[in-house]
Amino acid sequence: MLEHLSLVFVWLLLLGVAWSPVNGEYYSSVDKMQMLGEVELDLVTATHLYLTERQEQLNVMHSFVERVKLEHAAIRQELLQDAEYLEEPLQAFRLIKRLVVDWPKLHDSLAASQKQLREEYAKVVNETGEAQGLPNKEDLKGAVRGLQRLKSVYNLTASDMANSSLFWNECLEIGVQLYEQADYRSALEWLLLAAKLVAQIEDDNAQGMRAQVYEYLGMTYLELGEKQKAVETLRELLSSLSPDTPHPVRFLLDDVEDTEPKCPKQLVEAYWYANFSRLCQGKRLPEPGSLSCYLDFERHPRFRLSPLKVEQAHLNPDIHIYYDVLTDPQIESVLDLASQLESFRSKVLGDVVTETRVSQQVWLNYTSPIMRTVGNLLGAISGLDMTNVEEMQVANYGIGGQYFPHFDYISELREDYIERGNRITTNMFYLSDVLQGGYTVFPFLNVFLRPVKGSLVIWPNVHRSLAPDSRVLHAGCPVLEGSKRIGNIWIHSAQQEFRRPCTLVSTE
Ligand SMILES: *[C@@H]1O[C@H](CO)[C@@H](O)[C@H](O)[C@H]1NC(C)=O
Ligand SMILES: *[C@@H]1O[C@H](CO)[C@@H](O)[C@H](O)[C@H]1NC(C)=O
Ligand SMILES: *[C@@H]1O[C@H](CO)[C@@H](O)[C@H](O)[C@H]1NC(C)=O
Ligand SMILES: *[C@@H]1O[C@H](CO)[C@@H](O)[C@H](O)[C@H]1NC(C)=O
Ligand SMILES: *[C@@H]1O[C@H](CO)[C@@H](O)[C@H](O)[C@H]1NC(C)=O
Repeated sequence: MLEHLSLVFVWLLLLGVAWSPVNGEYYSSVDKMQMLGEVELDLVTATHLYLTERQEQLNVMHSFVERVKLEHAAIRQELLQDAEYLEEPLQAFRLIKRLVVDWPKLHDSLAASQKQLREEYAKVVNETGEAQGLPNKEDLKGAVRGLQRLKSVYNLTASDMANSSLFWNECLEIGVQLYEQADYRSALEWLLLAAKLVAQIEDDNAQGMRAQVYEYLGMTYLELGEKQKAVETLRELLSSLSPDTPHPVRFLLDDVEDTEPKCPKQLVEAYWYANFSRLCQGKRLPEPGSLSCYLDFERHPRFRLSPLKVEQAHLNPDIHIYYDVLTDPQIESVLDLASQLESFRSKVLGDVVTETRVSQQVWLNYTSPIMRTVGNLLGAISGLDMTNVEEMQVANYGIGGQYFPHFDYISELREDYIERGNRITTNMFYLSDVLQGGYTVFPFLNVFLRPVKGSLVIWPNVHRSLAPDSRVLHAGCPVLEGSKRIGNIWIHSAQQEFRRPCTLVSTE
């Protein structure tokens, strides 16, 4: 049983390496992860079927072998009394028939069922794989980096994250990935957790498992400049191995003892990181004073009967939250529209895929009824002219999905922005609730916003003078649990002369 399973894993690995993703990585989108879940369910079904059939086959084989064994036992007994047993035509026929027909049939059927599983596997992989690409090593790396981001931003320990549900080898895998990405400090914590978990295992193979963990542990200590600890770790491992068996650890230990202690690189945190991490954890310092919530009946005639629910999150620059702007069915329509388009890994301006932004996104124009509704609603709420708006960018953030602190204004006006002007406001619709994490934070302004489905957040990116306002640095915190969907619309400054008159004072 285990053998067949490992066979499946070997195929998985082979195909995983050979196939390259077409549309971007999985870890950055919950939608794509869901698709992978379905692929795996298909594999479970196909493999389960195979195992059931195989079990029946094994039972048949077993009874055949038992029967032949008995027959041979009988022959041996007979031989003592009657050496001419096999000269009996009937017995000779049966022996020859078994060798010519039964044994080959048995082995053919074994090969056939294995081939069938292989084909079944190829079919599952092909149906989804051809269109989407299976995850590869990059996806695994990405998923590990996602976990590491969560750990760091939310100040969790490895064992908080493992939450008693990760096995020793999963912790080892995370540790190894981080080691290979040269993040030795983080690797160490996961390897120590793996060592702790492996120590609790009582198994014939425990020795080998322990060796795997300790080898990486030793090398990680070495990279961290702790040569003494590296040597101790490897010695401890050696002492538990039987002294006669030649084990590669002996050579590793020799190597480590001969190596000069390394000088680890000091990681320098970005200047905004402390505030970013604190706000992502929902901690404000100090709690803000004079902010209020109110109902606004006046902004536009459409709010006379059902007023806008407004919350001030910050004043000057003004960050306002508007609740219950979109209904659930409206959100569903928007997401439906988005799901019909291929999503690509979000790019920061300049078309590069980076770790600073991990999400998948599409752009929706205003030709559909639902998007016309959204556009009109935003016009009424913002009071701005909607001629120069960008299409709505709909993004989906998966495991550890985030957007590092950045500005939305364009500091060097590119050609396509010269006519439309800069992005005077960002209008962010929350299209989902997020179970944990995924706040929008403003590290300079001591503001964090928890995503609330159906609400809209508006903030300015430029001063009244249209000079970029660098106070509105903002970020999307990594998603800890659940899925985050947002829709962003940027409104540009051209034709807003009467709606939002400019001033000459650059700091207003
Ligand atoms: C997927 O299907 C194509 C033809 O439809 C075939 O050439 C290819 O080998 C298949 N891939 C796998 C992994 O079976
Ligand atoms: C992280 O959590 C530990 C307690 O687990 C605490 O002592 C430490 O101050 C926290 N660090 C930050 C930056 O929040
Ligand atoms: C941790 O595990 C417990 C029980 O196994 C579960 O109820 C809880 O949701 C888990 N927490 C996280 C953050 O996964
Ligand atoms: C708007 O988007 C739809 C797809 O959602 C596309 O078919 C259509 O061509 C687009 N229209 C314009 C004017 O870009
Ligand atoms: C961090 O937040 C504090 C408190 O709001 C603020 O005084 C400080 O200027 C911020 N520092 C940075 C680098 O964002």
